[in-house]
Amino acid sequence: MIHSLNHIGLIVPSLEIGRAFYECAGLETHMSEGHLVCRCEGRDQDQVRLIQGPKKRLAYVSFGTPKGGLAELRARLEAADVQLHDAPFAVPFDGIWFKDPDGDWINVQEADDVPSTLPAPVEVNSPQRYRRLGVRACDATSSQKRTRPRRLGHLIKFSPDVDRAVRFYTDVLGLLISDRALDIIAFMRSPFGGDHHMLGIAKSSHTGLHHMSFEVSDIDEIEMGAQHLLASGYRDGYGLGRHGAGSNYFHYIRDPWNSMIEYFWDIDVIPEGADWTPMGSTENEVRAVLEAVWSGMPAPKEFIMNFEEPD
Ligand SMILES: [Fe+2]
Repeated sequence: MIHSLNHIGLIVPSLEIGRAFYECAGLETHMSEGHLVCRCEGRDQDQVRLIQGPKKRLAYVSFGTPKGGLAELRARLEAADVQLHDAPFAVPFDGIWFKDPDGDWINVQEADDVPSTLPAPVEVNSPQRYRRLGVRACDATSSQKRTRPRRLGHLIKFSPDVDRAVRFYTDVLGLLISDRALDIIAFMRSPFGGDHHMLGIAKSSHTGLHHMSFEVSDIDEIEMGAQHLLASGYRDGYGLGRHGAGSNYFHYIRDPWNSMIEYFWDIDVIPEGADWTPMGSTENEVRAVLEAVWSGMPAPKEFIMNFEEPD
């Protein structure tokens, strides 16, 4: 079973345009095997791997499984008649490769959790829970505060058949449904506990990347990052707001190829074995899954559009 999201591979027509965008978003970049790799400062894990190609498309998604997990996963894939393949891209890491029901490449590697070496964010003071005592949350005299994504948290990808994709990711790969809205969208988490979702599947006519999402330290870093990208000429996606599904604060910015990155903070975390009832069984719950609790602007019509060209 898979327990974590390692990184996302994207084919893009220009690595340099990608470098400019992801560095502007606060990520660090370097070249590896002819690919542009993006990482979070203070964290020893690739988060995005850009591969030069004729047009932008989701290349693959790399997940992690615990030590010894690959043997079990191989058995589950074999039982489901899923074929294993050689690596379809020249990448410097191991693991197994197969396609999900939408034809998207999936890599799974045995991987540990990778901690961040950045200092912990400052505590938050809430009514009856004052945890930051004698410490300023924001030092207005300092120019040091900036958006530093901590980790890649999740992605949402499109599918022409959400039910089929969800069955595959739950029955074969072991993910659990946290919330879903009919056959429109489903949010799935690790069975070992963690974020409300590491993968979402959203309905479209064809596959494609909707967004990838990076956790930041606080709501300031969401908006500082978003405003910095907007001031640098990138297009707004949707935000600031707070989701119903997952409860995270969000702001989405369009990448140069019209999918999006999201900055998120304060997502629901669901421990392994938690008594968690997914929303989605009533009209009211479906609405709660689909709509933000609040947002600074209405969700644009194009927010749910798939701009990735079909094959
Ligand atoms: Fe998201």
